[in-house]
Amino acid sequence: MPSFRSVLLALLGAALLLASGLASAAANRATFPKDFKQMVMYGDYRRGSGGELAYALRETIDIAKAGQPLPPGTRLVLEIYDAGALTGYFVMEKGVDWGLEVEEEKRTGDWHFQQFDTNGQVNRTSIAERCEACHQGQESNDFMFTRDRMEAYLP
Ligand code: HEC
Repeated sequence: MPSFRSVLLALLGAALLLASGLASAAANRATFPKDFKQMVMYGDYRRGSGGELAYALRETIDIAKAGQPLPPGTRLVLEIYDAGALTGYFVMEKGVDWGLEVEEEKRTGDWHFQQFDTNGQVNRTSIAERCEACHQGQESNDFMFTRDRMEAYLP
């Protein structure tokens, strides 16, 4: 028979796990784009059997080509390939004041970052901090690495 104390501790642990899960969900609003199929591939960063392909909606690319900042609601998708196979998706999504939900030193404008598996389900939420840390170096390009390819895109 488990003691009352051990049951209580187990329940408390479950509640804490749930609370931390909710907290990280609140701080990360990036979702997998429902309109991914309509997106076009504007950047090919494949090398050998691995690498990445960058996707955005045509309207997003047109805004970049017009030299305008990408507006809230923008989603960008990076397909990740390894050994010739798709292994997952990296998504950046921008929302009104979303940056305020991120600690200042980890902030990347109003972008949130999320990793998804090949079925579009969230994969390893905690990794978002690493995404932000690297993309922070691109502040002068709205935290993007592919803005040049987007502006140079020809259908
Ligand atoms: C070590 C640096 C680094 C880390 C960490 C990183 N990225 Fe990137 N990201 C890049 C580079 C470089 C590119 C340009 C494309 C390429 O080289 O594949 C890029 C491109 C992107 C793009 C295409 C739009 C853009 O910014 O130009 C998305 C979306 C993206 N990354 C999301 C993510 C997500 C989500 C994570 C975390 C799960 C992440 N990245 C982690 C370096 C990084």
